[in-house]
Amino acid sequence: MGMMNMEQPQLLSKIATGNGHGEDSPYFDGWKAYDENPYHPTNNPHGVIQMGLAENQLTADLVEEWVMSNPEASICTPEGVLDFKAIANFQDYHGLPEFRKGVAKFMAKTRGNRVTFDPDRIVMSGGATGAHEVTTFCLADPGDAFLVPTPYYPGFDRDLRWRTGVQLVPVVCESSNNFKLTRQALEDAYEKAGQDNIRVKGLLITNPSNPLGTVLDRPTLRTILTFINEKRIHLVSDEIYAATVFSHPGFISIAEILEEETDIQCDRDLVHIVYSLSKDMGFPGFRVGIIYSYNDKVVHCARKMSSFGLVSSQTQHLLASMLNDDEFVGRFLAESAKRLGERYRVFTKGLGQVGIKCLPSNAGLFLWMDLRRLLKKPTFEAEMELWRVIIHEVKINVSPGASFHCSEPGWFRVCYANMDDEAVKVSLQRIHTFVLKNKDVVVPDKKRCWQDSLRLSLIKNRRFDDIMMSPHSPIPHSPLVNATN
Ligand SMILES: Cc1ncc(COP(=O)(O)O)c(C=O)c1O
Repeated sequence: MGMMNMEQPQLLSKIATGNGHGEDSPYFDGWKAYDENPYHPTNNPHGVIQMGLAENQLTADLVEEWVMSNPEASICTPEGVLDFKAIANFQDYHGLPEFRKGVAKFMAKTRGNRVTFDPDRIVMSGGATGAHEVTTFCLADPGDAFLVPTPYYPGFDRDLRWRTGVQLVPVVCESSNNFKLTRQALEDAYEKAGQDNIRVKGLLITNPSNPLGTVLDRPTLRTILTFINEKRIHLVSDEIYAATVFSHPGFISIAEILEEETDIQCDRDLVHIVYSLSKDMGFPGFRVGIIYSYNDKVVHCARKMSSFGLVSSQTQHLLASMLNDDEFVGRFLAESAKRLGERYRVFTKGLGQVGIKCLPSNAGLFLWMDLRRLLKKPTFEAEMELWRVIIHEVKINVSPGASFHCSEPGWFRVCYANMDDEAVKVSLQRIHTFVLKNKDVVVPDKKRCWQDSLRLSLIKNRRFDDIMMSPHSPIPHSPLVNATN
């Protein structure tokens, strides 16, 4: 009887019983709507089209061709099976030397060969997801914080925070200057964290940006390096979309500023790059993530930690051959940029025909679409309302700006590289029909330039724990499990 009154001990950990992953979110309704009723051109032509997935499927044919003409690169073919035993036995957490060499070469190539990368600094992890967590474990303690410019990839709330106990402090960027990151915004966020007694350990940037599809220019990168050096905090540069740039201005890696712009005082020990082959090569399933740190201690610690998320040696072996094939890599990158650019133009043109504007961009696998005119009120509640209409009536799953911590309601991310031309046509037709039906609210007002912002409802420090479009969807048994970013 006495036992009945005693407090029951907690059987599981706080992590296991908490909601740090963020899967209990109303935003997942979009995934569910797609999951329950996925579009198929013949079997289900009225189903939901998935446009919430930052996946690059436009160049799969080039990779398939390469695999067919290089059967010895795989250990599961008659031509390659002699390597099977050695590769299946390989378990060194440094990784296959040829793989690290191939990745270092690929990273240089995607940065126009203006910088080189040392294969001995390449550390593997399970995708950029794992790379972010390992890097965070190396740089910060529970309770410490990273500054992150908004809008940002929702998965960061999980990757940097969930198991590490680290916090994220938003650096608010606004549409009035195309969401450009400024020194003032950085200072404001840093100061605010100080007032809240939060110790800032680093700044996390994404270049090119998800969800904006824009690249950071040289002056901004210089400002960032100067800022982190002055504050003695780390810089993590997520460059996962490096090779998705399809038009000018070109991509500038933080590595270039560090190597070339020697007039800037910056302690190299503070700079770390996170990379992955999920977007540039379209291999999210291979889980190839890379930490490239200029800090020896971080390289050593991250390498030890990489035991928890190594890339399979079979994958390393295949990629060692592919990434060291200079002719293929050159052709692949050129063709990929061409196809992404074409897709971008088709989409922006189609949206423009019904007066929908997007933030001008030149990278990524998505558009940052401005639907502020369609909101009943300039609030996040109205954004959610519109989003539900888009999912249930227009039957496309796009992602609302709130889930990217955007400071202004009315922006939506639309992914366009995870589908074929036919699905593009259908989705544009649906958008046209919807907009024309609601044309009173949508007809472009010549007096109003798209950049004009509605009253800004700044939501500094507002936290959307809902990780909506993040990899590893929480929907149980869903086919989206491997396809949610
Ligand atoms: C900016 C950014 N970083 C990291 C990731 C995670 O990538 P990965 O599949 O390599 O874990 C994503 C995925 O969408 C992303 O957009």
